[in-house]
Amino acid sequence: MNLIMLGPPGSGKGTQAIRLQESNGLVQLSTGEMLRQAAASGSETGKLVGSIMAAGNLVPDDIMVSMIERRIDQPDCAGGFILDGFPRTIAQAEALDGMLARKARRLDAVIEIAVDDGALVERIAGRFSCADCGAGYHRRFRPTAVEGVCDRCGGTEFIERPDDNEETVKTRLAAYHAQTEPLLPYYRGRGILRSVDGMAGIDAVTAEIRAALGAFAA
Ligand code: AP5
Repeated sequence: MNLIMLGPPGSGKGTQAIRLQESNGLVQLSTGEMLRQAAASGSETGKLVGSIMAAGNLVPDDIMVSMIERRIDQPDCAGGFILDGFPRTIAQAEALDGMLARKARRLDAVIEIAVDDGALVERIAGRFSCADCGAGYHRRFRPTAVEGVCDRCGGTEFIERPDDNEETVKTRLAAYHAQTEPLLPYYRGRGILRSVDGMAGIDAVTAEIRAALGAFAA
């Protein structure tokens, strides 16, 4: 199965994609994560994308499309993938359609995680992750079991994303409404879009996504 997770910044795309990756054997392809790695590499492209992300704007479509095409071509994606953060513009969605058609593959479902704008700043402001293994947490909604110790690897160093500040979140949210939201009617028209209530708790959202995917599989 090949899926897209759609939703505003902080809606829970990454949280849910990781859960589906573990339970459904799909590969999570997070474009945000790929870009953060590129930025950390210090390459010329990395410096460019790092400055764009720090401002909360979208990275140019041509960079994103070639990045995702190279990744989809890798053998671990043969059994199915979850696109987390891509496409984010109509041009990216059209490019994805073209590349999947050339590879005789198809998109099975698009899951929109719908969250009120007002809840997103708290979600993003409370987010942190393990510096060693990258496991994601939230101070209020998903704390570590033992304070200061990663549940997954036992690490004790944690980091926050540089673009997780109130000013940048506003720009990211504006980019979502202006450039990404038009993807909802684009996919709804093809009958492959399902919206889930992202205001519910993390487990309830997972259950709703699984039910939606079960309906598609049937
Ligand atoms: P990216 O890394 O994709 O960021 P984003 O879309 O802004 O999404 P986030 O990672 O912030 O949130 P999420 O929805 O994954 O939520 P999460 O699960 O972490 O992109 C970063 C930047 O890269 C972009 O701004 C852009 O510059 C660039 N970029 C990336 N892709 C691009 C593309 N295709 N084209 C152009 N540019 C691109 O959850 C958030 C927090 O809430 C967590 O702490 C979590 O524990 C908690 N939480 C999750 N679900 C719930 C729940 N149901 N209830 C309570 N808390 C919850």
